[in-house]
Amino acid sequence: GGELRIWPGDLNVVRSPVFVNTPRGPEQQKLGATPLLTSKESLDALHAAVKAYDNGRGAWPSMRVADRIEHVERFLAAMRARRTEVVNLLMWEIGKTQPDSEKEFDRTIDLIVETIRALKELDRSASRFVQEQGIMAQIRRAPFGVALCMGPYNYPLNETFSTLFPALLMGNTVVFKPAKFGVLLIRPLLEAFRDSFPPGVINVIYGRGRETVGALMESGLVDVFAFIGTNRGASELKKLHPRPHRLRAVLGLDAKNPGIILPDADLDNAVKECITGTLSFNGQRCTALKLLLVHRSIAEPFLERFCAAVERLKPGMPWTPGVSLTPLPEPEKTTYLRGLVDDAVAKGARVVNPSGGRTNQSYFSPAVVYPVTADMRLASEEQFGPVIPVMVFDEDEEVVRFVVNSQFGQQLSIFGRDSARIGRLIDAFSNQVGRINLNCQCQRGPDTFPFNGRKDSAEGTLSVADALRVFSIRTLVAAKTT
Ligand code: G3H
Repeated sequence: GGELRIWPGDLNVVRSPVFVNTPRGPEQQKLGATPLLTSKESLDALHAAVKAYDNGRGAWPSMRVADRIEHVERFLAAMRARRTEVVNLLMWEIGKTQPDSEKEFDRTIDLIVETIRALKELDRSASRFVQEQGIMAQIRRAPFGVALCMGPYNYPLNETFSTLFPALLMGNTVVFKPAKFGVLLIRPLLEAFRDSFPPGVINVIYGRGRETVGALMESGLVDVFAFIGTNRGASELKKLHPRPHRLRAVLGLDAKNPGIILPDADLDNAVKECITGTLSFNGQRCTALKLLLVHRSIAEPFLERFCAAVERLKPGMPWTPGVSLTPLPEPEKTTYLRGLVDDAVAKGARVVNPSGGRTNQSYFSPAVVYPVTADMRLASEEQFGPVIPVMVFDEDEEVVRFVVNSQFGQQLSIFGRDSARIGRLIDAFSNQVGRINLNCQCQRGPDTFPFNGRKDSAEGTLSVADALRVFSIRTLVAAKTT
């Protein structure tokens, strides 16, 4: 139990607390409560960030890069010391397995370390001069202003910190709203934030989206909006800004990444990769494979092996060794997933694995749904959960059409051996998605790789170096040499 202390203390007015439960397994219990801030309190947090930025004249944006890095390193040391606590909360609050929770924590530390390294590099290049057509110029990088950073519940640490720390390191001041699930695990880090950064540089808020973030956007005082979540959430919030042309947005949004299994694919490898691709963290990854497009000639053997592998996965609570399927943090999610499966079944598909679609509180047993056709919701809607639609195709052209016509364009995977055929598909897909994975699942990492997408899947590019660019602007100092 206990309430979450939101920093700074004077913003911590407890109103209508929201209770955050553990994912609903047999050991469900109340973990804690968080205060919901009013719009006025959220605006106070924003004004603190605006004051600390002070139109670029504040101590933080004017600080030497090396000094800013020192503050972040102080935070890193404190964060490392809270590893056990944060990892435990990742398991309890969002239901991520222990190995994956540990990985998320360690990967986040590495990401911040890499961002510092990239910043030093950027800083060195900023002191160089270029000379062209009788003009000598220095290209500096200046912070952008006040950043609002929001992350998703599936990576409450890694994805939010992948924008938060580049923003801070570049000299912006920040308002940070933790994810709906994943708010309690920030608690052990609040003191570290308070002790590592000057007042107003980082401000943590929590509350209902429309009331808190909505008010911040309407104020027009947010300069960069870093949001990883749904298209709907992003567009509703973005349009509240009174001067959209002055708002820089970096968005990681919905996806429907297909896994394409060609007739000559190594089936064992394809099954192994598609299992983790579709089901790690119960499919709650924006980069998950959300649809399998299987060539008709191998549909039967593929499905047989794939379903057998699904049935071997062990369900349980996240801290139990060997478990890979866990309860979902959103209790309503099982009803939503059931609706998707029912829609497909009503239109002629079947759940082809024996345990598919069984529920126990918020646990939903992975359902392999086959054959999925274009008229079913599962063909185009992002399920973000343990339902695996499988479609068959005869000609590669059908697959190309599917990708081209998709509303989304984050990533895809191709499984096969014929390099000429794969080459043709790569050519067809290069301007459709942000990343093409060959004989392996879709994923974001390594975190230093550019992370982006086309169409409705993203705006801007994230990653260590790209994020530093997102949160800064190049300023030229130019002089005539002749
Ligand atoms: O939820 C979207 C994440 O960016 C996925 O990251 O591919 O490392 O699991 P991941």
